[in-house]
Amino acid sequence: MSTQVNTEEVIPVQQPPLTFAELIQRLQEQTSPPALEHITTWLSTVEISEADLQPYLGFKEGNYWRHRVCRNESVEMLVICWRPGQRTPIHDHNGSHGVVKVQKGLMWETMFSFHDERGLRYQSARECPTGEVTGAGVPDIHQLGNPDVSGQDLITIHVYAPPLGVLKTYKVGSPTIDFYTPNDFPT
Ligand SMILES: [Fe+2]
Repeated sequence: MSTQVNTEEVIPVQQPPLTFAELIQRLQEQTSPPALEHITTWLSTVEISEADLQPYLGFKEGNYWRHRVCRNESVEMLVICWRPGQRTPIHDHNGSHGVVKVQKGLMWETMFSFHDERGLRYQSARECPTGEVTGAGVPDIHQLGNPDVSGQDLITIHVYAPPLGVLKTYKVGSPTIDFYTPNDFPT
């Protein structure tokens, strides 16, 4: 009598890829801010073509350019275009959580910690290559940018829940917190 061995491997259920249009539709259907884990899964599985991005591409000298894809009361999505050397102020998201996908190029993220008396301190930095998906919870303080040594433009996809309003900005070594409203228009 022979013993049969089951050689079939258990294959984990894969999330089917989302199209960009399906991701936009899913975000627009949200009636409460989606969890960080869900946004991370969506941005990890979405497949975005150059044609999808075409309406949201545009660079300017002097500052990065934010392009709004969609926004409701629960969540928003942006495409941000960065020339080498452009970066955000050091900021937090004032209660929102967010996930970033590096669509093309190289992104640097620097993390900070804040103490009421000692002020803002550098914590760590890392580089995120094309395809990387990185989440920021509450109250992460960070700075994103396209390093001037990258030699290439950077395109990133951002989902924030709830949508960003007024952000808090910080300076290294200072306990002072300022306020900043991101602008979607070229200035
Ligand atoms: Fe941020």
